[in-house]
Amino acid sequence: MAVDLLLGLQWGDEGKGKIVDVLTSKYNIIARFQGGPNAGHTLVFNGRKHVLHTIPSGIFHDDATNLVGNGVVIDPVIFKKELDKLEEQDVDYRKSLLVSRKAHIILPTHRLLDAASEASKGKAKIGSTLKGIGPTYMDKTGRNGIRVGDLELSDWKERYRALADKHESMIDFYDVDIEYDLAELEKEFFEAVDVLKSIKFIDSEEYMYQAQKSGKTILAEGAQGSLLDIDFGTYPYVTSSNTTAAGACTGLGVSPSQIGDVFGIFKAYTTRVGSGPFPTELFDEDGATMSRVGNEFGATTGRPRRCGWLDLVALRYACQVNGVTQLMMMKGDVLSGFKTLKVCTAYNYKGDIIKHFPYNIDPENVEPIFTEFKGWNEDLTAMSEVNQLPKELNAYIEFLEKELEIPITIVSVGPDRKQTIFRS
Ligand code: IMP
Repeated sequence: MAVDLLLGLQWGDEGKGKIVDVLTSKYNIIARFQGGPNAGHTLVFNGRKHVLHTIPSGIFHDDATNLVGNGVVIDPVIFKKELDKLEEQDVDYRKSLLVSRKAHIILPTHRLLDAASEASKGKAKIGSTLKGIGPTYMDKTGRNGIRVGDLELSDWKERYRALADKHESMIDFYDVDIEYDLAELEKEFFEAVDVLKSIKFIDSEEYMYQAQKSGKTILAEGAQGSLLDIDFGTYPYVTSSNTTAAGACTGLGVSPSQIGDVFGIFKAYTTRVGSGPFPTELFDEDGATMSRVGNEFGATTGRPRRCGWLDLVALRYACQVNGVTQLMMMKGDVLSGFKTLKVCTAYNYKGDIIKHFPYNIDPENVEPIFTEFKGWNEDLTAMSEVNQLPKELNAYIEFLEKELEIPITIVSVGPDRKQTIFRS
């Protein structure tokens, strides 16, 4: 059976958690393949909001198995907090949660290194979530990392010590003011490692192979967004993993020939948290309205998200890189009340009109070219049928479908599971 992918097409925070939750009833297995606790996947149902960072968004469904794949980086401390929250809500995760032995562990010193690296960059900082993501992936590719499977070895604490000592000298090298009490951090870390060890560790690529062979349905859940991809994103203002479709192959051990549908999730406008170029960013009342109505604050850090109009140049690029087969548009409800909507359809790039996403999108090189649309005033949040949608919104959707040449099959009109309109 093919593995379907669900990916964010912008700079993250598109609403992937909600859609995975909506789609989970169709799948036997939900698998995370990259990123770590820098992600914040928000799910709303039965009047409650749930935020997941490392654990796949299928965890609230009794029948789904949830796999944390080899491409993910796990902070045991944050993982334990997520488990504690699930326990408070009587979610029986022990039978439905699996962790790959090949996933890498975020150490307390990885977090400190992240902070030291960012502090040393001054104004050029990435705007990292400071969860230790970059330093952990650096140790992975540098072949120094500690993996989940290592926790089963008798000498893992010696390996931990050697790596943590090395990190401490690297922190000194940065020569920035970072205050920390490593003994305290380690106490919390080792307690959390014991909890992590109570979860079932597996050889996940074999598990995935057998699951596909036996006809299980599998959804791979991406984190962050395509424009934060380490190769294809707005480097260096990106995260440290492949957030695009190829990342699902390396992050789960799935062959490219086994990929089925690729669901691309995007917001009806654009947001970005952290530093980096953002051609359609708004600094006016429209941006402030999107931020306020859309409650645009990071689910992991609480930082305000930058807001702007939809950028079709960037979205088309993300669709191409991922091979998107179906689009899902989130937060259409946030655009109710705008007299005029704008969509960027091309860039003026150093005097040339271009429609492809260039190497450099810094503001001095790129000026967005907009097409305008008439807005609508109807409140969408109580709508459940496609024929209830205002004609202006339908015109907006149909324009996007035509430009991107991909059908929009879901329109989300609010954070709750139920506020989801299916278009065939
Ligand atoms: P890091 O992955 O925490 O190092 O952050 C690198 C960049 O990616 C920063 O600009 C972050 O704000 C951004 N980022 C990381 N994870 C997310 C996410 O889940 N949603 C949105 N932005 C993210």
